[in-house]
Amino acid sequence: MQPGTKVLIAEDDPNSARLITDYLTAKGALVTWKDNGSEALKEVQSESYDLLILDLRLPEKNGFVVAGEIRNDERLFNLPIIVTSAFPDEQNLLRSYQLGVDAFLSKPVDLKKLFLLAKNLTSRKQKNENKIKEALVLLNEYCEKKLNRPGHAVRVEKNCLSLAAAYQLEDHLATLRAAALLHDLGLIFTSSDLEHGPVGAEIAQMFGVKAEIAYLIENHHGNISQTTKIDSEEVLESYLGILKIAEKIEETYRNSISSFEQDKEKGLLTPDVASVIAELIMTT
Ligand SMILES: [Fe+2]
Ligand SMILES: [Fe+2]
Repeated sequence: MQPGTKVLIAEDDPNSARLITDYLTAKGALVTWKDNGSEALKEVQSESYDLLILDLRLPEKNGFVVAGEIRNDERLFNLPIIVTSAFPDEQNLLRSYQLGVDAFLSKPVDLKKLFLLAKNLTSRKQKNENKIKEALVLLNEYCEKKLNRPGHAVRVEKNCLSLAAAYQLEDHLATLRAAALLHDLGLIFTSSDLEHGPVGAEIAQMFGVKAEIAYLIENHHGNISQTTKIDSEEVLESYLGILKIAEKIEETYRNSISSFEQDKEKGLLTPDVASVIAELIMTT
């Protein structure tokens, strides 16, 4: 299992939860535990996980309900789910597989078996995600070739990283980097300033990127009606601000120091950000 693989355990029995947590933690996983179904569901909807280990008998929302809601959620349908149950009768087993869970283990859980399953399922998920990322990077390269502006997205990415450091906003760097690299994807199909954001978000979502990344792509020029569904808008607003400034540095400021000076005088840029921009304009 890759170190740092994120696992959520939905389990109301603290002893079972502790056994599994200790075993998988020793194998390098980052394990979180929730003891009821609705909290577990909320958790996978707000944080990105590589695997859910789901007990069937849970308070509030039982395992069937949780699995069903996950498989119906377009952002989560790919999340691997291992069901555990003290009642491994045929009915429970068939119902679980009907809902689309990946594996069914009877309790008490055989930890070795659980680990091997977890390892297989998460490494497949990670490989798929890497393939998706590679495909999107290739699409972006094609886009830049078509528009004859090589390196634009990479420079915007670099601007974003410098600005994120200045704002001390480094919690979701992976999201910001991916969005910066892919922000102009929509230009493959439309040259419209207004439309390329939403179109790019749609392409990226077709390739399975996270909703947060699609949201940033969609809105990187602002003033566009939002079609991507996200929950964590507040967190993302600051990243959107960074992406917009990063784009402006790349498209305007780099060619026109005077427009940068004007914006600085108008107070549109904080001193911190202005100094980062000044540095970026000078060095590239
Ligand atoms: Fe751009
Ligand atoms: Fe753009």
